[in-house]
Amino acid sequence: MITETNSPENNKPAKKTIFSGVQPSGNLTIGNYLGAIKNWTVLQDEYNCIYCVVDMHAITVRQVPADLRRRTYETLALYIAAGLDPKSNILFVQSHVPAHAVLSWDLGCFTMYGELGRMTQFKDKSRKNADNINAGLFTYPVLMAADILLYQTDLVPVGIDQRQHLELARDIAIRFNNLYSPTFTVPEGYIPETGMKIMSLADPTKKMSKSDSNPNASVGILDSRDVIISKMRRAVTDSGSEVRYGEGKDGINNLINIYCCFTGKTREETEKEFEGKGYGEFKAAVGETVADGLSSLREEYSKLIGDKQYLDEIMRSGAEKAAAIARKTITKVHRKIGYVSL
Ligand code: TYM
Repeated sequence: MITETNSPENNKPAKKTIFSGVQPSGNLTIGNYLGAIKNWTVLQDEYNCIYCVVDMHAITVRQVPADLRRRTYETLALYIAAGLDPKSNILFVQSHVPAHAVLSWDLGCFTMYGELGRMTQFKDKSRKNADNINAGLFTYPVLMAADILLYQTDLVPVGIDQRQHLELARDIAIRFNNLYSPTFTVPEGYIPETGMKIMSLADPTKKMSKSDSNPNASVGILDSRDVIISKMRRAVTDSGSEVRYGEGKDGINNLINIYCCFTGKTREETEKEFEGKGYGEFKAAVGETVADGLSSLREEYSKLIGDKQYLDEIMRSGAEKAAAIARKTITKVHRKIGYVSL
């Protein structure tokens, strides 16, 4: 687990606060599940948890409107199906709480051009979307900082790819606190060792991504049992045969990590279990394990996704609760900046 130091408390409830989110920009993968959502469910009793479907982030890349709307519902249903209780957690959609955009503007004036230019995700996405390098793609980390800082967040459970953005959010918070007076909690990252970077099944040197155009590169959380098993069987591995974690064995390392995340076993235990067995047998076992591990989530999801009225209610009440917390931070920030309050 990688954590970073936190700042002194300021106006905080007794339980610490968690904030995290997923973009509804594609079919969610087991990377999103193992790097983020699965850990959210583990943390929900200990913390005040706020989980957001970050639709405003998704439009930094062109989206088909009907698909974005459908995926926003799907992502919310998936949060609940994964085990997040909408009664004890705040689940909401980012665009329903305008304070995110408001704070994003304010914080943008405390973020340097050079800092944003150094973001590796900006460079990657600019390369992939060369015909649409819009300002939102550039200022995206500021919106993410606003998401986190609005709720005086202590802990942000994410995969390793979000670490640089999280560090920027910390820098912005510290800068603002030093310029004025303590205003924002400085958040820590919660990055799981084994699930922090699940790799593509087609090219295990690349991160598994929901926006990958190759359907065999990723396993969707909602893929059917047969599809999961067949994708795992076809996962690219090296020419060896020993199930052992090691350098130059990105494909096998990735499958071992996935297996460990779903079974709770260590790498050593996994290696021992598959001693003398070949890659074929191991891949089949990983497929079965992942399919079993996701089967109750899939069942729960299929019950929820048809009930739009229920999902609307969750969105509405989540947005109200989130907006009430966000308002306090916005009021404080605006007073400190020098805006006139009416
Ligand atoms: P997004 O939508 O790309 O991914 C959602 C979460 O899944 C994690 N993740 C992975 N973890 C392990 N292996 C992978 N292959 C993998 N792919 C994705 C991500 O690290 C993330 O935790 N900017 C964020 C969303 C966001 C956010 C926030 C997160 C917006 N505001 C505030 C936390 C706090 C993003 O694009 O995630």
